[in-house]
Amino acid sequence: SWTPDNFVEMTVASLKEQVGSEKVVLGLSGGVDSTVAAVLLNEAIGDQLYCIFVNNGLLRKNEFENVLHQYEGMGLNVKGVDASARFLEALAGVEDPEQKRKIIGRVFIEVFDDESHLIEDAKWLGQGTIYPDVIESISVNGPSATIKSHHNVGGLPDFMKLKIVEPLRMLFKDEVRRVGATLGIDPELLGRHPFPGPGLAIRILGDITPEKVRITQEVDAIFINGLKEHGLYDKVWQAGAILLPVNSVGVMGDERTYEKCVALRAVESTDGMTADWVHLPYEFLQKISNEIINRVKGVNRVVYDISSKPPATIEWE
Ligand code: XMP
Repeated sequence: SWTPDNFVEMTVASLKEQVGSEKVVLGLSGGVDSTVAAVLLNEAIGDQLYCIFVNNGLLRKNEFENVLHQYEGMGLNVKGVDASARFLEALAGVEDPEQKRKIIGRVFIEVFDDESHLIEDAKWLGQGTIYPDVIESISVNGPSATIKSHHNVGGLPDFMKLKIVEPLRMLFKDEVRRVGATLGIDPELLGRHPFPGPGLAIRILGDITPEKVRITQEVDAIFINGLKEHGLYDKVWQAGAILLPVNSVGVMGDERTYEKCVALRAVESTDGMTADWVHLPYEFLQKISNEIINRVKGVNRVVYDISSKPPATIEWE
């Protein structure tokens, strides 16, 4: 019968044979799938694996630094590429959600292609594709999704002509987590909520500016850290903050304020196809709301999203 130990043993052996002494390039996203794929490949071929972790400037607060550090601690041969400015410049003034997704996909491919050209004579592209992605052929998370849905834009970039190696393509998500645990990956990393490839870009409604990214990151960090501190994080499938394109009137001392409104979203789900809003305790919501308004400059109102999917979606864009 299937066990994570057997899987690791067999997969490492077959990866060694498949890849031989050739080089593999792999895009890390900070998510579970790409991380487990990288650690498996690392077990099999060590420094023949070249990982690339791109900061698109739309990750959670301190995420790029923290996760990069964690990857290095795991012994991965990883290069962090901070392309924030390039993404934010390309997104400036763009309001349409699908347009934002397209731009992020395109810039990701450009950055990844530039980086993979620096790795001389790479023969393989490693991907964290899992079985549900294979069936649907659209992954909801990670760079693989971006790559697949944008490969029709003006000729294939060179890295897409590489041979593909996908060690997780027969596994379901829970099996990926068990394999990750067997490989000694930090349980906290394995238990992370899903995070969309376009990141905060689709949680900042309307156009994106560095100031809006800062506000969204601050609010999100207070919410997510609060969930962790109150033992609620693992009871939620996905959570985050949405910055609304709305100012509303508030009062501070004798002054009227006219500042931003943020929405908090937390859902229960099994696969993201349907979802219910989580009945977070009122005391928790009260504490988080106060903390956000007191600490995040530019925000004077917090609302909680009580819509389920369908008919609402999980993201607002
Ligand atoms: P929705 O909003 O469609 O979200 O209910 C379902 C799941 O998909 C994620 N999501 C995305 N992931 N690129 C991604 O990689 C995207 O463009 C994208 N849009 C939504 C969302 O975070 C949720 O987990």
